[in-house]
Amino acid sequence: MTNIKKICCIGAGYVGGPTMSVIAKKCPDIQVTVVDLNEARIAAWNDEDVNNIPIYEPGLSDVVAEARGRNLFFSTDVEKAIDEADMVFISVNTPTKTYGAGKGQAADLKWIELCARQIAQVAKSDKIIVEKSTLPVRTAEALKDILHNTGNGVKFQILSNPEFLAEGTAMEDLDAPDRVLIGGDSTLEGQEAVQALVDVYANWVPRERILTTNVWSSELSKLTANAFLAQRVSSINSLSELCERTEADITEVARAIGTDSRIGPKFLKASVGFGGSCFQKDILNLVYIARSYGLQEVADYWEQVIIMNDHQKRRFANKIIQTSYNTVNGKKIAFLGWAFKKDTNDTRESAAIYVADHLLNEQAQVAVYDPKVEANQVYGDLNYLRTRDAEENKAGVSVFDDPYEACKGAHAIAVLTEWDEFKDYDWQRIYDSMLKPANVFDGRNLLDSKKLRAIGFNVKTIGSSL
Ligand code: NAD
Ligand code: UDX
Repeated sequence: MTNIKKICCIGAGYVGGPTMSVIAKKCPDIQVTVVDLNEARIAAWNDEDVNNIPIYEPGLSDVVAEARGRNLFFSTDVEKAIDEADMVFISVNTPTKTYGAGKGQAADLKWIELCARQIAQVAKSDKIIVEKSTLPVRTAEALKDILHNTGNGVKFQILSNPEFLAEGTAMEDLDAPDRVLIGGDSTLEGQEAVQALVDVYANWVPRERILTTNVWSSELSKLTANAFLAQRVSSINSLSELCERTEADITEVARAIGTDSRIGPKFLKASVGFGGSCFQKDILNLVYIARSYGLQEVADYWEQVIIMNDHQKRRFANKIIQTSYNTVNGKKIAFLGWAFKKDTNDTRESAAIYVADHLLNEQAQVAVYDPKVEANQVYGDLNYLRTRDAEENKAGVSVFDDPYEACKGAHAIAVLTEWDEFKDYDWQRIYDSMLKPANVFDGRNLLDSKKLRAIGFNVKTIGSSL
């Protein structure tokens, strides 16, 4: 029986940081060290003022304040943490490849491989290696190969323990997960390793919610869970376009569909399109894997989820242009929200980036306000697309720290993120400061459109012909 005393987590990002903070909180007898190559990120995790930690997630700073320095540590000394640990979580980024074979679809596993090589080099005692990152099915095979062929003769067990938290609700999701999934080998040693990780989670997760499977089922379940969730969003978004032509209303349709207990109400909210670091990347990876096994129909089926999402983002931008008498050239379009969803400062793959890019191609002046996103992040996101150079992005986009300033003198307002505070703004004040007709494009169906129309706004929502 392996009793875990020290855990190391490689990767102090949106998953590694919150996940390890919760393990440290729930398991005061385990010492948890989160390591990262990014010195600035680790320095921010160690900032005396917990409000300066690098990730905004409701409830996270309280947990960090409680556990940091007690049994939770953040460090750049990767080797020391690996050496001392009984169990090493790999929670590094696995983005879509931007070069070579599989460019634009396959997961880039170079950081995963680097971790494996480093563990193999440093380890002087047997360790359990846990795949926390989302990985293509059968990655554990490659990890095993690297660890056993370059190691110092020490034994490794590899487990798959994908993370299902969603950003913005990470702390609740970690505190009371629908399930924890642990995949391991069927050998005696494999099952012992599975049990060791089960014992960690059993400190706070009811045993019946801890599912154990073989490694491949666990790896594949993570990719496919995200694909299923994204598919629901694309399905409802496809119907939103039909609603806009037929006087049906997507909110009513979603309620009618979702009350069927076989379908359920969640993930049926029509929007400007899904974003985030996971959905697109994981579906593209699923498509790539299916194609690599020669399963064309399977690949085409899932690829359609992405095609629909791209269409939804473009359609939203086009509606702004069409409503603005077919030109946004030189017009100020105010964006409320830049993050990919509320309650996070994460902007990866946010729909806002693509809508802005489209409007900038039409020479609009985009004015951005987001309560948690900094200006340099907005410019960085646009520059990363390489549609135009940084100077042009700077000239076309201004970032405000006051929403009323962002909206002042605007031809139109576009709601890109469903931040609660947007609902409570003084909309009369905003109306008075805008050019007329004052258009609002609510990409999240967030605002009270009746109230706004009574003030005088022309409001366009997703999935309604009004
Ligand atoms: P992230 O980019 O926020 O964090 C990854 C961190 O790993 C970075 O800080 C990077 O510097 C560090 N890193 C990379 N290589 C390293 C190395 N060799 N040594 C030390 N540090 C290294 O990524 P994330 O959002 O936390 O995602 C991590 C993984 O979890 C991905 O596979 C992702 O698909 C998966 N996942 C993400 C979410 C989510 O909501 N973000 C949810 C579930 C699963
Ligand atoms: C997702 C998965 O939900 C989570 O389980 C996994 O671990 C990581 O990926 P995340 O990307 O953080 O989590 O957020 P999620 O709540 O899934 O939202 C993804 C995107 O879909 C957001 O842009 C969100 O606004 C959008 N969305 C979600 C909709 O447009 N409509 C919905 O009904 C639900």
